Amino acid sequence: MRLPHPIPYQGSKRKLAHLIGRYVPKSATFYEPFCGSGAMTIYAAHKGLANRFVLGDSLEPIVRLQQAIVEMPAKTADRYQTVWEGQTSDNFGYFNDVRARYNADRDAVDLLYLICRCVKNAIRFNKAGNFTQSHDKRRLGTHPEKMRAAIHGVSQILKGKVEYRVGDWLETTFDADPDDFVYMDPPYLGTSVGPDKRYHQQMTQEPLIAGLAKLNARSVPFVLSYDGMTGDKEYGPPLPDHLGMTRLLLHAGMSSQATLSGRKEETVESLYLSADLAEPVDGVIRAPAQLSLTL
Ligand SMILES: C[S@@+](CC[C@H](N)C(=O)[O-])C[C@H]1O[C@@H](n2cnc3c(N)ncnc32)[C@H](O)[C@@H]1O
Repeated sequence: MRLPHPIPYQGSKRKLAHLIGRYVPKSATFYEPFCGSGAMTIYAAHKGLANRFVLGDSLEPIVRLQQAIVEMPAKTADRYQTVWEGQTSDNFGYFNDVRARYNADRDAVDLLYLICRCVKNAIRFNKAGNFTQSHDKRRLGTHPEKMRAAIHGVSQILKGKVEYRVGDWLETTFDADPDDFVYMDPPYLGTSVGPDKRYHQQMTQEPLIAGLAKLNARSVPFVLSYDGMTGDKEYGPPLPDHLGMTRLLLHAGMSSQATLSGRKEETVESLYLSADLAEPVDGVIRAPAQLSLTL
């Protein structure tokens, strides 16, 4: 069954949710502190894995967008339709007008339109948090009727069950305890170093490692998606053994980036399970313990 997914966020875990979901236990509260489009929260709510959810991100407008979708679906769908219908095929300046408006006001539904309409849904922000990606010449972005159905679908699953938090992931998860569960999908090193900065905020390994140690100290179960490899290009060093995690490799499919450049390369993503979670199941490859990755 296809789950509703209104925010076509680059890096969304929508396609991997069923694989990652194998490792998600039932919990009192499901935390997703790097939520973006919230693909795992949608999956977990659909599967009844928790009755309460905490959605957080350091990008405030994406959290407000989540809130608008879940709590005010009709109004949000109407507003998206109005913004979407403002565009015409002979007015390429329209996207830039909405982008300028978003950069001035940080309106959540303007952000939804920009995500849907920008090149390859590949969001880009500058240091000031302004949206910098251009419009995609070949597509108009999700049709309002399709968007309305997706928005109502998500709202039906999540309404009344979510708490929204804006900020760093450690603040979002400060009250998680052993009955809860945390799914983390931070920006990968591969998208955080070098000139191609995908998200408004980057992430280095040291604070991530320190934060995971804090979750361990409180016995909070968690699953972390982190880095991986495309073809023979590897994105980052593995996380240290002292965190006691099990590292799995998920086959994430063919790299669309490589396919566009005429190469066939498979993307493999790392999935780290906290020490107390189940052993790997069939169909997932365990990474050799000594596997060494280089930047
Ligand atoms: C890889 S995306 C998450 C995608 C998400 N799993 C999905 O399914 O759409 C990473 C997200 O982390 C956010 N982020 C970056 N640094 C953060 C931090 N320190 N704390 C919380 N969120 C952060 C970014 O704004 C971005 O939305």
